[in-house]
Amino acid sequence: MGKIAELVEKHSNYRKETLNLIPSENIMTPSSRHLLCPDLVHRYVNPHNVYGGTKYSDAIVEETRKMAQKIFKSEFAFIEPLSGNIAVLAAIYAFTNIGDKVMIVSPDDGGYPINLEKLGRKPVYFPFDKEKMNIAVEKAEKLILKEKPKLIIFGQSLFLFPHPVKELSETAKEVGATTVYDGSHVLGLIAGGVFQDPLREGAQILLGSTHKTFPGPQGGIIVGIGEKEEQKLWEALGFPLVLVDNPHLHRIAALGAALEEYEKYGPNYAKQVVKNAKTLAEELYNGGLNVACAELGFTESHQVYLPTDSLEEGRKIYNVLEEAGIIVDALVRLGTQEVTMMGMKEEEMRKIASFILDALSRNKPLKSIKTEVKNFLKEFTSKYSNYT
Ligand SMILES: Cc1ncc(COP(=O)(O)O)c(C=O)c1O
Repeated sequence: MGKIAELVEKHSNYRKETLNLIPSENIMTPSSRHLLCPDLVHRYVNPHNVYGGTKYSDAIVEETRKMAQKIFKSEFAFIEPLSGNIAVLAAIYAFTNIGDKVMIVSPDDGGYPINLEKLGRKPVYFPFDKEKMNIAVEKAEKLILKEKPKLIIFGQSLFLFPHPVKELSETAKEVGATTVYDGSHVLGLIAGGVFQDPLREGAQILLGSTHKTFPGPQGGIIVGIGEKEEQKLWEALGFPLVLVDNPHLHRIAALGAALEEYEKYGPNYAKQVVKNAKTLAEELYNGGLNVACAELGFTESHQVYLPTDSLEEGRKIYNVLEEAGIIVDALVRLGTQEVTMMGMKEEEMRKIASFILDALSRNKPLKSIKTEVKNFLKEFTSKYSNYT
């Protein structure tokens, strides 16, 4: 076995024995994952019919596009972006010019830290209510009227509650701004009919990653409403070439299959993700941890937030938890989407909370919690049956 293959095997075994609560990751169903490695992985397909041999691959792209439009009830869909980040860039290029203002949640409030200055655009940050972990509506309305941004991007990386799209989209229209919703984190929730429905609340565009709450392959997607919007995105994405040249066909096939399956199981899975997050939050809170937004029911998404004073403090927590076999990030956002895909429900959330509480209070040696976690996971590692 080569060195890389050996490392890949070690990684896979390590992740099989550890409990993953990173809110940006997920697992795919075996049937959609299987499509990531057929002959398609070697091939090109291109909207200008430059390559031959695409009799079936053209159909795969078209069917996936149609499936995305159906699931998100949109007029158009771009499934070509190689990641959520490229989808965000496409919206910025499509709807703004150099020097224009873009309204977005500040990274200090859990926004996605895109470097707008580097792109020649001016960031205007949404006024934010840290207590409610949400955009402050009245102040935001005033700021939109004052700053007149060309583009307003809802959505964030630390995302607990639905954003006030309905409340602010009229004001956005008044100043001629395009309203985009970055649903990278909550795409699976939106597709499953929970959290919120940005395209019906006034956003023209919904975009994001296809691998966080949506259990698809790593990649990006843009769906939306409006002919003008579609044309601008088409030009920004790369026809002629800007952000995407040859899309990755195997990823599109796996996305198509994931969308196809999601139609059936998505609504139940999405509801369970949120129920699980609420249960996990409540158990941790009752166990004495500082969990954000207790008075608001903790969360309406897949995330549970344990605030810390710094990333350094967060890193200490993730190191302790990793020694106990639990994987989290340095912001200490805990995500329930992957464990829900594995078939876990409220009872298992109570168990996970007890592992976390034991580890952080050092009630038990971390090594023995790690063994408990490993045994606990055995029952779930090949269990997708609840959702497929
Ligand atoms: C809100 C938000 N938008 C966009 C992205 C970028 O997504 P990707 O990792 O697919 O490039 C992220 C990544 O975590 C994110 O949190």
